[in-house]
Amino acid sequence: MLIGKKNSIPSSEITPESIYRQRRQFIKGLAAMGGLAASGQLLALTDQHDLAGERIYSGPEWLQSALKQGRSDSRLSTDESLTPYRLVSGHNNFYEFGMGKGDPLRYAQRFKTDPWRVEISGEVNKPAHYELEDLIKPSQLEERIYRMRCVEGWSMVIPWVGIPLADIIKRAEPTSKAKYVEFVTLLDPDQMPGQRSSFSTIDWPYREGLRMDEAMHPLTIMAVGLYGNSLPPQNGAPFRLVVPWKYGFKSIKSIVAINLRETMPDTSWNLSAPHEYGFYANVNPQVDHPRWSQATERRLPSQLFNPNIIDTLPFNGYAEEVAHLYTGMDLRKWY
Ligand code: MTE
Repeated sequence: MLIGKKNSIPSSEITPESIYRQRRQFIKGLAAMGGLAASGQLLALTDQHDLAGERIYSGPEWLQSALKQGRSDSRLSTDESLTPYRLVSGHNNFYEFGMGKGDPLRYAQRFKTDPWRVEISGEVNKPAHYELEDLIKPSQLEERIYRMRCVEGWSMVIPWVGIPLADIIKRAEPTSKAKYVEFVTLLDPDQMPGQRSSFSTIDWPYREGLRMDEAMHPLTIMAVGLYGNSLPPQNGAPFRLVVPWKYGFKSIKSIVAINLRETMPDTSWNLSAPHEYGFYANVNPQVDHPRWSQATERRLPSQLFNPNIIDTLPFNGYAEEVAHLYTGMDLRKWY
């Protein structure tokens, strides 16, 4: 578990992106030579022994061993350049820990992420409270390198580690009435200063939702890791949603409840500004936010004189995989 200074992560806690990338190249090379047969070996090379003295986020022991069994050969991953770890874990939106991009890194370091229980409820034959470990362990962890496009206009490429949400839903045995999935973040104002703030426009806890076919789509994962290691608190540890073809606000963090429902659930941003943030929130360069264009994005890292502006793609570049989910829908109406 990270115990850092209040205002910054010690550099020793961070796996430099260059080391991570070198290691991936090395692993890819070995695999190409037939040197690695089992996919489980891949993430094992990212543990502390491989970092020549570098310290990394540890997380609970069960997660460390699950990470060692993970595989990183997904055809659903992009091969675009990774956003450096310092930005993925230092430029965050997690309003429970403040509204500034650096606030989550600053204020989430003592957030207690283990033990962690998740309730699965609603339209399922097997409602239950699970220890996170029991929810994750039946599946193999997979690395998925996804683009993430924030509705604010910046984007990253992030190597998540997680499991398909479909695995969890199938095990709960949805009934025929299950049409939507609702997700709820922890409510704990003692630990989350943003939930105590009188400036917040969000009615806590943070809530999100997906339609059932979106939730069951193979691209949709529940992440528990990042860059081959445990998910840092500021990125939504220990358990967050990642839906890469939707704006980042759909990817709700630090989830304690998954509720299957017959009706469309309320979502936090839709409740707080319904004309700006819809339920679907599919990345769409043709439908502008009322206050800014969504045609382009700033791919981080981005500097003043080298802003790295690129075109935003429909469904964030995942149209081939997901556009069929919305056939016949007016995406201007269902933004
Ligand atoms: N989940 C919770 N519980 N609270 C939040 O404020 N912010 C969302 C999303 N999930 C948010 C959240 C937004 S706006 C974005 S862009 C992504 O998390 C950012 O994820 P990251 O900080 O890991 O990049």
